[in-house]
Amino acid sequence: MTRIKELVKEQAEKHGRERTSLMPILQAVVRSEHYLSEEAMIAIAEELDLSTADVFGTASFYTFLDTVHRGKYIIRVCKTITCHMKGKDEIIRTISDILKIKLGETTTDSRFSLLQANCLGWCHKGPVMLINDEVYPEITPEKTSEIINEYLKKK
Ligand code: FES
Repeated sequence: MTRIKELVKEQAEKHGRERTSLMPILQAVVRSEHYLSEEAMIAIAEELDLSTADVFGTASFYTFLDTVHRGKYIIRVCKTITCHMKGKDEIIRTISDILKIKLGETTTDSRFSLLQANCLGWCHKGPVMLINDEVYPEITPEKTSEIINEYLKKK
């Protein structure tokens, strides 16, 4: 049995094999692998007795469930109206300049991916950025570059 199949089986045992278990299993796989490979989606479909189209459809509907390989640190900048008006473009430009990647790209060392996200629910404190599960509200280009530079020092 492959490592992915084992992971999926383990998660199915933990969350159950009902349709409602699909979401927590997908999230657990993304947490562990940083994305959902085709192999993982097929394994989940088999384990929960769903069609692969069903699993793929759910995964691609939610932007948080990546179906392409991403970096260790996934940076998501909110692109929704409030954050847009509060300067999210400048934030993205700052990150792009430091990491030398454009939106949707991953650094060549696979450490950082830069993405946009829909409203993160922190509109009153925009612009907002998320790095993996960590929320960074009220960021400025200066604050952003400090944060990114801190991450660059991490392993
Ligand atoms: S608009 Fe950005 S968090 Fe809501």
